[in-house]
Amino acid sequence: MQECGATQNFFIRELQYHDYEDLFAMWSDKRITDLTATDDGMTLEGAKHRVRNQVDNPFFKNYVACNDTRVVGFSYLMLHSAHKRRHIASFTVLVHADYQGKGIGKALTLHTIREAESDTSIEIIELDVFKDNQSAVNLYLSTGFEIEGILRNRTKRNGVAQDLYIMSRPCTTGS
Ligand SMILES: CC(C)(COP(=O)(O)OP(=O)(O)OC[C@H]1O[C@@H](n2cnc3c(N)ncnc32)[C@H](O)[C@@H]1OP(=O)(O)O)[C@@H](O)C(=O)NCCC(=O)NCCS
Repeated sequence: MQECGATQNFFIRELQYHDYEDLFAMWSDKRITDLTATDDGMTLEGAKHRVRNQVDNPFFKNYVACNDTRVVGFSYLMLHSAHKRRHIASFTVLVHADYQGKGIGKALTLHTIREAESDTSIEIIELDVFKDNQSAVNLYLSTGFEIEGILRNRTKRNGVAQDLYIMSRPCTTGS
């Protein structure tokens, strides 16, 4: 568990099974789903299933930011199972819409990078992000990610095709 300072008033720990209700609140919020790969229409049962799968899966490293009452942010690394891509981990982060802009996303991102750096098999952290998601792009640029390219019209938001940036950063301890 990582304390993040009295002024910030949250801490980071690993994801646990019982966090699914708080994650459901984020995964079913259009302010979040419009900016992420999570489809609309998540159910509470679906959230429970997804959390259980990620906690139990050795290819995931999952972290949550908590305040006194609830989970307010979530990040994870997904390690690739294919041997030829075992040096790559995919990264995602999201923060409850009511708690954004308070340093939680950056703290989760830096924490997750440190965890990746302690795994010597990970050499590259990669992600994709909606090209127009300026908050997330800024967060990633400020934590060492670089834009590698654009995937044109690669996903849809409310039926409208959107471009994605592919971003990555080296994972120094593993490289
Ligand atoms: C992107 C997200 C995770 C950032 O989390 P956050 O807790 O709001 O961000 P922080 O307060 O830690 O700020 C971190 C950095 O993000 C950027 N940022 C945050 N809010 C921003 C805003 N409104 N406009 C521009 N940049 C912003 C800044 O670079 C900031 O660093 P700085 O404060 O040193 O300038 C959060 O907005 C979110 O969950 N968005 C919806 C889900 C999502 O888009 N996830 C990413 C999917 S790829």
